[in-house]
Parts: sequence; C-alpha cells; structure tokens
Amino acid sequence: MTTRASACGKVILLGEHAVVYGRPALAAAISPGVDASASHGDGLSLTVSPWGQTFRPEDGTDLGRALQVLGAVMHGTDLHLDATMHLPGGGGLGSSAALGVACLRAAAGHLGMGLTPERELELALAWEKVFHGNPSGVDHTLAARGGVGRYVKGEGLTLVRVPERLSLVLADSGERASTRAMVESVARQRARRPEAVDQTFDAIASLVGRAEVALAAMDPLTLGELMNLNQALLSSLLVSTERLEALCVAAREAGAFGAKLTGAGGGGCVVAVAGNRSGAVRGAWEALGARTSVVELGP
Ligand code: PMV
Repeated sequence: MTTRASACGKVILLGEHAVVYGRPALAAAISPGVDASASHGDGLSLTVSPWGQTFRPEDGTDLGRALQVLGAVMHGTDLHLDATMHLPGGGGLGSSAALGVACLRAAAGHLGMGLTPERELELALAWEKVFHGNPSGVDHTLAARGGVGRYVKGEGLTLVRVPERLSLVLADSGERASTRAMVESVARQRARRPEAVDQTFDAIASLVGRAEVALAAMDPLTLGELMNLNQALLSSLLVSTERLEALCVAAREAGAFGAKLTGAGGGGCVVAVAGNRSGAVRGAWEALGARTSVVELGP
C-alpha cells in the first residue's frame, strides 16, 4: 500500500528577513511544490527525486536530522518515503518546508495517524529548524495552508483575497546561498547597527501593508513599485548580489512593473510582476541564462 500527499512551495512578494523580526510578510503558496509517497520500508528512509539520493535518520546529513523529527513521533516504524521536488532546492521557494509537510502528511496518512493542522504545523516547524535555525515560519505555514496572505511570526497567516488572476514571473539565478547564513548575516548587521536595521525593517513593514492593499485592489503597477522599493531595502541589508540586481534591472527594462529577490537572497530566485510583458521579461531573463517560470495567483 502506498499513501500519497503533497505540499506547496511559496514565494515571498515582500517582507523577507524583516519577517524574522516580527514584521509582516506578504507571501503566496505555489504549486506544484513537493509530492511524497509513503510505503513499507526497512527502518525509516527518504529518497528525493530528481536528486536520486536516499537519506536515513542516522546519516549525519541535514535531511537525515530532519527525518529524526518524523522518527520521534512515528517511532519504531518501517517506512520508506519517496519525494519528488518540483521546486529548485535552496532557491528561496520554500522547498525544504514543502518537503517536510509532504513527507509528514504521507507518513501520517500511511500510519493512520490523524494530524491536527496545529500538530502538523508544529512538526513542520521542527523539521524546518534543522535547515534554518530560527525560521519565521512563513515557509512551512504556506506549505501547509496554501493561499496568499500576510504572515506574522507567532500570529500566523491572514489570507488576502486576490480578486483576479495575477501572473508572477520567476527566474532562478542559479546562484545558491544558505538561508541560515543569510539570516545570520542580517542578525550581525542588526547587532552592529540596531537602530538603522530596525528602521529598514519598519520601512519594509510599511511597504508590505501598502502591497496588501494593492494586491487586494488588483493594482499590479503599485505592487510592482513597492516590490522595487523592497528590493532596494534588501540590497541595503546586503542580501542581494550583482546577478540578482542584473536580473531585476533586466526585468524592469523589459517592462516589468517591479522585480525583487525572493527568500533569503545571496542567490536563489527573483520574482517580477509584469502583466502582459511577462513573456518579454522571461525572454530577457533567459538571455541572461536564467531558468524561468510563471505562477498564477487568484481565482
Ligand atoms: O530562502 P527561503 O525560502 O528559506 O526564505 C527565507 C525567508 C527569510 O525571511 C529570510 C527567513 C524566514 O525564516 O522567514
């Protein structure tokens, strides 16, 4: 018998990093994220495609340690998990949280364990902590709940109704940085210049508030402008890179309303709102060697 489950990835429209310090972020679930299946196994193991790698709780890897979270609540279980990632790993699209939620759901379903939404979030947060140290919780919350909304650490997600379809264009820069390292770098800056960095976080929070209104009012022009301003503030926190900046500039030159990095930065993905210029933005990004995709928000 095989039990299947899935979970969403996420894209942060505005508010990353500041969200770690209690400011709101505006984020959307994206699918497909990760599909997982659980079947009888020899001990606990997880095979991840397309990496073709198998992990076990005792193998000393981060994924092995994350599996210990599952092992602790499903102890003494012979369970094999197969997961298929539809998101680039470490690209700022919440792949580790989506993997955690999909595996938890498949395992719990297979073992006939009922998981309340609260328990699912609690276990997914424990899984995420293995990878990210002190995550805000935006990734695993979107992975589990889906939708588009305003997320505040400790308070959770408030859904925002997007009245019409809105396309987001994504590009993977191909660069990679660890989320943990980027979050720690912002923490060091805050330790050195607490007032300046907190002011930056407050400015980001105000952009998030305005972006929420723009999104609900289906005003992509304003949303894009707010994303551009957010990108400038993220650059001031030193989480952007030359390549991310070049991709944002190329998107704007190709007619995007706005573009910014998404997730922890230091590499990973950029997101743009470009309306009927989405194709032109993808073309400009692909000319720079980036892999691109489109996700749709709204009904
Ligand atoms: O790079 P990702 O997908 O793990 O996103 C990180 C978002 C941060 O705000 C930088 C960290 C967090 O825990 O919210």
